[in-house]
Amino acid sequence: MGEALSKEAEASTEASAAAEVAVASRITGTGFSVPDRVVTNAHFESYLDTSDTWIRERTGIVERRWVGPEESASSLAEPAARTAIERAGLQAADIDGIIVATVTPDYAFPSTACMLQQRLGIDDALAFDVNAVCSGFVYALSTADAYIRAGMCRNVLVVGVDLYSRIINPNDRGTCILFGDGAGAVVLSAVAPEEQFAHGDTLIRGSVQTTAGIYSNLLGADGKHSSILCVPCGTANQPTAESMATDAHYLTMEGREVFKLAVRKLGEISLEMLERFDLPSEAVRYFISHQANERILLSMAKHIKVDAARIPMNLDRYGNTSAATIPILLAELDQDGKIDSGDLLMLNAFGGGVTWGAILLRW
Ligand code: ACO
Repeated sequence: MGEALSKEAEASTEASAAAEVAVASRITGTGFSVPDRVVTNAHFESYLDTSDTWIRERTGIVERRWVGPEESASSLAEPAARTAIERAGLQAADIDGIIVATVTPDYAFPSTACMLQQRLGIDDALAFDVNAVCSGFVYALSTADAYIRAGMCRNVLVVGVDLYSRIINPNDRGTCILFGDGAGAVVLSAVAPEEQFAHGDTLIRGSVQTTAGIYSNLLGADGKHSSILCVPCGTANQPTAESMATDAHYLTMEGREVFKLAVRKLGEISLEMLERFDLPSEAVRYFISHQANERILLSMAKHIKVDAARIPMNLDRYGNTSAATIPILLAELDQDGKIDSGDLLMLNAFGGGVTWGAILLRW
């Protein structure tokens, strides 16, 4: 009896392990788009007490892109989305879900996802925005994965887009130098049921003969740190003539606190994700990490004991584009042929809220 029970328990453990690693969705296309206007560090030297050397040494940022007055989140997202749909081998009409991660929407409402849907000429798809600041893309991709797992969608367009040039205080040298505008997009498509369990369990043994797709999501938040990074303007604090005159509606940040929490959380979630599958960090080809600051990423590399070469960066060219950093980097690596089929990737992010998230997937 005891033996029978323990066999049952063993079988159920095996089943739950298989269930945990079975994939339901995979990225089938990527795209990105950045504004034409390049803003170098010299721009800030021209009117602030700062220097190119200070900015490069403290952040790793050399230049960023900013939109012009006629652009919006949805206009910047449109070419990224079109490229992702085309590279997925799909038509716009095949998209049945649109999730846009942004904190700089076209309007308070309708959502930027609906504005983008209109631009793409998609008639019949669910569409909504996600606000998780710099973790937004990881939250949006996890949501899309859950919708596909639930059978609610087959091809979801997931976009990260932010235009921080619209919300930074141009006179605050501690923040205005950090941010750029950009958009990145992926199409997340359902994996056929017969493929889902084909090789899923071999992930645990580190085999490369496994199904491509998302294996696991890890999301979290801690609202008690909400004030260390915020744009203090909304229904709780409506703009007044005085607040407009004193620039009180712009983004504010306690840089050192954000830095410390980001390093700690990115390290913790990366290790937790590896532990879920008993994987050594070398099993992951790239950590596609939110591009906030080179020093944050190098500290994270040390914490999780990975070679910095496996933490690709493009923040020198684009700065911190918030929800867009991860899909832009992913699209660049994909388009440059730097990701091979079968590679394990970990996406990880930390941002205002505070929020954090990690996704483990096989390309
Ligand atoms: N140029 C010159 N001096 C500057 C500048 C600047 N642009 N900005 C700040 N300083 C000064 C400060 O005023 C301060 O001077 P003081 O000592 O006379 O008071 C001095 O430099 C040191 O300031 P710190 O804030 O301690 O500088 P630090 O080394 O921490 O670097 C930075 C500041 C780059 C903002 C850093 O804290 C950081 O990267 N934090 C993470 C924040 C981040 O990446 N946020 C992005 C959003 S959140 C996310 O995406 C994860």
